[in-house]
Amino acid sequence: YATTHEADIVVIGSGPGGYVAAIKAAQLGLKTISVEKDPSLGGTCLNVGCIPSKALLHNSHLYHMAKHDFKHRGIEVGEVKFDFNAMMTYKANAVKALTGGIAMLFNKNKVQLVRGVGSIVAPNKVQVQGEKGVETINTKNILIATGSEVTPFPGVTFDEQQIITSTGALSLSKVPKKMLVIGAGVIGLELGSVYQRLGADVTAIEFLESIGGVGIDGEVSKTLQKILTKQGMNFKLGTKVTGVKKEGGAIKVDVEAAKGGNKETLDCDVVLISVGRRPYTAGLGLDKVGIALDDRGRVPVNNKFQTTVPGIYAIGDVIHGPMLAHKAEDEGIVCVEGIKGMPVHFNYDAIPSVIYTSPEVGWVGKTEEDLKKEGRAYKVGKFPFLANSRAKTNGEPDGFVKVLADKATDIILGTHIIGPGGGELINEAVLAQEYGAAAEDVARVCHAHPTCAEALREANLAAYIGKPINF
Ligand code: FAD
Ligand code: NAI
Repeated sequence: YATTHEADIVVIGSGPGGYVAAIKAAQLGLKTISVEKDPSLGGTCLNVGCIPSKALLHNSHLYHMAKHDFKHRGIEVGEVKFDFNAMMTYKANAVKALTGGIAMLFNKNKVQLVRGVGSIVAPNKVQVQGEKGVETINTKNILIATGSEVTPFPGVTFDEQQIITSTGALSLSKVPKKMLVIGAGVIGLELGSVYQRLGADVTAIEFLESIGGVGIDGEVSKTLQKILTKQGMNFKLGTKVTGVKKEGGAIKVDVEAAKGGNKETLDCDVVLISVGRRPYTAGLGLDKVGIALDDRGRVPVNNKFQTTVPGIYAIGDVIHGPMLAHKAEDEGIVCVEGIKGMPVHFNYDAIPSVIYTSPEVGWVGKTEEDLKKEGRAYKVGKFPFLANSRAKTNGEPDGFVKVLADKATDIILGTHIIGPGGGELINEAVLAQEYGAAAEDVARVCHAHPTCAEALREANLAAYIGKPINF
């Protein structure tokens, strides 16, 4: 067991940003060491984020379908019940398989793993405090990929049983009867949906007048709220929370209208607080090398992901931009390519966002609100899934595709989808936007029939020439 190592690059953090960057660096011939403080690799996304939430979303959706939807499709299943423990075990197995997969990929690509908390003691030196003691790594480059953590809520202590973050919501021991969700952003809607489908009475309290968090198109947000309300979720918009306290076995949440006045106290057995995440740099020693954080706690970098200290780079949730796994991964790849002298390009206008509710919401590029604010002349092409043969046949007619294109050039500026498979379908729109396509380009591409993707083609046709075929 060596206590001193030599490396070309040390990647601190093994989340989607860090582990992908480490593999890429090793593939490019750099002697690569990954440093991770947690026992399981994969960071927030694999352990307490994307993966476990999607396992619960998928299985709660299947349960909900079996209970409320199968009968009219001619499927008789008798009494439909769920086993919450088994659902949680399924989720844990999905996480285990994928985090274990990273260890295998590290071996295959010869990425060395050093376990423990990494701190930067000098521009070319990382110290790792592990179970076995302190290890020192001398390195040419350092990549900070330490991710993010839950933003605390003033005056509230999380017990992760009744007053919970997303992490607690992914490991509850039983389905709450009454659940309040503070913040109707991505986490609130996804995890609120899980428990609503499993029978909880869920109310989401949101400070803004709209749901879905930052970047969602206003029309999509309104449609999503309507659909989720029909499914049984309750919303209190334009409302702020002024206090959360435990009283006996119950939780009391004080709320008032965001504009002031109208105070009330709501009861629940579990409150999920999902008001955002913040960059995580605790213990990293950035002050020792003179890296100052910005006003939102992020590590400032230039367009090559270089910090102010030569040889030290940063990517993912810990820097600017949306806190998304695919954004972190892609930054990791181009960052290490840049270290090898390759070009570094990153198009922040072509990062997809997906909310994995039912139906799914997916978008890329500008919203109508953005374009209005910019005073840009644009065309709208809209196509409802009600007029798409596959969506209709599958009994999933809710939602639409909306394409926004430049009025003069027809170049696509944004695509907004709410509907069946919206999270998959958005990738075609991202490809189009990344290639600088015009709406006519997508409208002229042959699409398989019958597929929901034809709705995207028709929306592009509507944007390009004003008239879709099937609506
Ligand atoms: P992280 O994944 O946070 O990883 C950072 C890693 O660094 C961690 O393993 C941490 O232990 C380690 N670390 C930190 N400091 C040190 C140190 N000093 N030494 C050693 N190790 C250290 N995004 C999506 O795109 N799609 C989704 O569906 C999605 N769902 C989500 C659901 C939930 C409930 C949550 C909370 C998040 C979700 N996200 C989703 C966001 C996504 O998880 C993050 O954007 C992503 O994980 C960021 O990757 P990262 O590599 O920057 O950081
Ligand atoms: P979010 O930023 O999506 O939503 C937070 C919501 O809380 C906003 O609508 C905000 O207006 C509201 N809010 C803030 N303070 C409030 C208060 N005091 N009272 C009431 N409402 C308040 O953040 P969220 O949901 O916590 O998720 C964190 C991040 O994790 C996301 O921004 C996203 O980057 C990532 N994520 C991504 C997912 C995906 O891609 N599908 C899924 C889950 C998380």
